[in-house]
Amino acid sequence: MTTQQTRSTTGSTTGSTTGTGAPAPSDRNSLTVGPDGPMLLHDHHFVEQMAHFNRERVPERNVHAKGSGAFGTFTVTGDVTAYTKAAVFQPGAETEMLARFSTVAGEMGSPDTWRDPRGFALKFYTSEGNWDLVGNNTPVFFVRDSMKFPHFIRSQKRRGGSGLRDNDMQWDFWTLNPESAHQVTWLMGDRGIPASWRTMNGYGSHTYMLYNEAGEKFWVKFHFISHQGVECLTQADANRIAGEDSDFHRRDLYEAIENGDHPAWTLKIQVMPYEDAKTYRFNPFDLTKVWPHSDYPLIEVGTMTLNRNPENHFAQIEQAAFEPSAIVPGIGFSPDKMLLGRVFAYADTHRYRIGPNYQQLPVNRHRVEGAYTYQFDGPMAYDHVGDRSKYAPNTYDDPYSDLTGPAEDGWETDGDMVREAYTLRAEDDDFGQAGTMVRDVFDDAARERFVGNVAGHLAGGVSEPVLERAFEYWRNVDAEIGKRIEEAVRSGDHGDPAPHPTDAEETV
Ligand code: HEM
Repeated sequence: MTTQQTRSTTGSTTGSTTGTGAPAPSDRNSLTVGPDGPMLLHDHHFVEQMAHFNRERVPERNVHAKGSGAFGTFTVTGDVTAYTKAAVFQPGAETEMLARFSTVAGEMGSPDTWRDPRGFALKFYTSEGNWDLVGNNTPVFFVRDSMKFPHFIRSQKRRGGSGLRDNDMQWDFWTLNPESAHQVTWLMGDRGIPASWRTMNGYGSHTYMLYNEAGEKFWVKFHFISHQGVECLTQADANRIAGEDSDFHRRDLYEAIENGDHPAWTLKIQVMPYEDAKTYRFNPFDLTKVWPHSDYPLIEVGTMTLNRNPENHFAQIEQAAFEPSAIVPGIGFSPDKMLLGRVFAYADTHRYRIGPNYQQLPVNRHRVEGAYTYQFDGPMAYDHVGDRSKYAPNTYDDPYSDLTGPAEDGWETDGDMVREAYTLRAEDDDFGQAGTMVRDVFDDAARERFVGNVAGHLAGGVSEPVLERAFEYWRNVDAEIGKRIEEAVRSGDHGDPAPHPTDAEETV
């Protein structure tokens, strides 16, 4: 019998260790009774390797599973102190941040170039706590009540039986929820497939609140405008790339940053005086609507530059936990029923997906010196306060927060508890802004691609009565576009005729 005590000649000359730091006996051979004999249970190094390997994954995100991101800096270049006291927005302030971009419906290994909205999730490590803006590359969304979100997502993911995605199911949901029309118009237009994450804009989408030192409140929408311009892929190119390189967008961002080509975006805001919201012609909290720039022009705030790739994808991207509930003084929520649902949902999913102490991981950890949080223990707890108070108030000078009176970031509400849709305003409907986009924002070539994209999607397995309802949906958006879509589906002529994605700016 021979004993092999020598270290590997192919690997490092210093040996690896076990989880407890002792020299690992071998990363090559398990312990057996003779070279051909059975393996031994007390080979704890082997057992540890197997057991830890079995636990290497955390569940993928329920939505937005496929993505990647990078770190960077946000620098304030404008002066918006009239609207907000947030430290992250004070003139000249520089704040470290993290961005993660993603598709929505695809799983962790799915192609980056599938037609889908793109997530645009940002985490700003501000001196007053983390501020997360978890938006998309579109300024609107498919539904306007959080209650519908799980139903919407299930209609876009896979069927229970076949495990296949199903266009019929997608259009069934969209056409039975016509408030989706505006977002479906974005999705089926050029911006439904960005050429890269660098060449897309990001939108906070929801209406948020800003409030200044004097306590004055404003409603706000956040827009990140790409310095690289907006570039998109045709359906044909996206299909080809999906087969050639499913990590096309991940690779593009990583390589750009590795090459010193740091992508940047200008943050601009639309600000609505608090009182305007009561009478504005659209319900300003309805996430299926934009605020036309002609009513509320864009105001420059600062520049976000991504300049550092993650060193470890799992630690810094897979375990990154973005949550709309992470706000800071000077920024607040609004009565948007989607936003308020999300304020609950994200921290809850992180506790499940990563664990209850996810906020202690370096990528999620805030950068506030001397913070004292009344959250203790639990699985994998790392931070602690020694023997200091676990309760408040206490007589030992450990921190105690004690605000009373109206919430600084609150708004007036009254009325009976109801389950009802929003009160709609004079110009609110499901189709109006989608129609404006098709007619006034798209040019002829973009309209032609749009008809091809919708018709191609409908021809991919959508059956009656959903199909007829889809034609009616588009006729409601615009009579002419509805007619063209129906003709294209019926005739089978829905190619990809105009292979030049435009840079149609959002002007509505
Ligand atoms: C009630 C509505 C919504 C619910 C319940 C919801 C729920 C979720 C959940 C559970 C995740 C997975 C988070 C994780 O595991 O880390 C997620 C991710 C995400 N959601 Fe939503 N979502 C909603 C609406 C929206 C809207 C309207 C937007 C954009 C405006 C959005 C943007 C995102 C983004 C960007 C991510 C990925 C974050 C990341 O990169 O880690 N979601 N959402």
